[in-house]
Amino acid sequence: MDQVRGRRYLSAPVATPRDIHRVQESLISGWVAPAGPELSAFESQIASYVGVSEAVGLSSGTAALHLALKYLGVGPGDKVLVPTLTFGATAFAVTYLGAEPVFVDVDDSWNMDPDHTRLALKTLKSDGIQVGAALPVDLYGSPANYGALMPLFSEFGVPVFEDAAEGLGGDFDGKKLGGFGVGGALSFNGNKILTTSGGGMLLTNDGEFASKVRFWATQSREDFPWYEHEEIGYNYRLSNILAALGRSQLERIDQTVTHHRELRELYREGLAPLEGVLVQADPSWGRSNSWLSVVTFDPGLYPDGPTQIRLALEERDIESRPIWKPMHQQPVFRGARSFLSGKADSVYSSGLCLPSGPRITDLDVEEVCSVISRTLGPRA
Ligand SMILES: Cc1ncc(COP(=O)(O)O)c(C=O)c1O
Repeated sequence: MDQVRGRRYLSAPVATPRDIHRVQESLISGWVAPAGPELSAFESQIASYVGVSEAVGLSSGTAALHLALKYLGVGPGDKVLVPTLTFGATAFAVTYLGAEPVFVDVDDSWNMDPDHTRLALKTLKSDGIQVGAALPVDLYGSPANYGALMPLFSEFGVPVFEDAAEGLGGDFDGKKLGGFGVGGALSFNGNKILTTSGGGMLLTNDGEFASKVRFWATQSREDFPWYEHEEIGYNYRLSNILAALGRSQLERIDQTVTHHRELRELYREGLAPLEGVLVQADPSWGRSNSWLSVVTFDPGLYPDGPTQIRLALEERDIESRPIWKPMHQQPVFRGARSFLSGKADSVYSSGLCLPSGPRITDLDVEEVCSVISRTLGPRA
């Protein structure tokens, strides 16, 4: 089967002959279900890769966030801290339980800012509000500042669940992302560094947490010969066939992450001569998986930089994408309580995500850099 060609996508997956073979094998095995040996093996392999004891394969990262918050007892009217610079799913999951996200601005790593987190926790506490949970995100694969955030959350008695949907393969101080707090969520969506087309996983070191989530995700089926339900359930398990695809991709995760990191370095080198054009760097406390290479344009020099470049790349059939639009700017979260510094707004208005997936080559990066250079004109 010919795979997607021509257009350079932001983050298009690759299915190798081995991936295809592994999926075929799982189909032939007869385990065409949200259960089976591939799923169990995928769970234990991801758990050992990340360094946690438990993993539950789910239909999406969003499902992992939803069931984690449910396990933490988040319910109607509760407040959950969410960085404003994230993909909508982080905040959507909060609303599934009738709770409300409270948005916190980001620091120079583009992740939850410890200073604004403290401000939010103090202010909510003095208003008599107990925060139900916090969902720090590892944006674009870059670790949040857990060294500062974790003591803060524990000081205020707030449980933490890491949204590592974008972070598989990145680390904080040498420890793989996905297991900070009571656990973490991974996404295996089509554009992610490891993809099962759609899927996710909940990671934790708490066996009781993992079994409860596994139980809810399989329609809360009690241990009877018939379908007996004492609780509302969800159809959230990952399929055995998709787990086979995930296992095959996990075998090459180190090469994949290396490729992403190399692309980001090539962008950095290619764009270095351009004044006011910066490729996102790793924070001092850890290493990004470089899921997406993201560039910012100095607004003083290039007020319309991101749009100009996006349209210029589009003319060459190259996809790029604005940074996630901050949650506090989203119509659906109008009026939500927020603790802001203006950082997320400025990152959003000055940044652009560049093609970064496994199909992107050194030549593609060269072409993107030369389009950027030509479009920005003589000042660059
Ligand atoms: C930060 C973040 N959180 C959550 C999700 C949700 O993951 P999924 O698409 O697997 O539901 C995504 C990605 O899609 C994401 O980027």
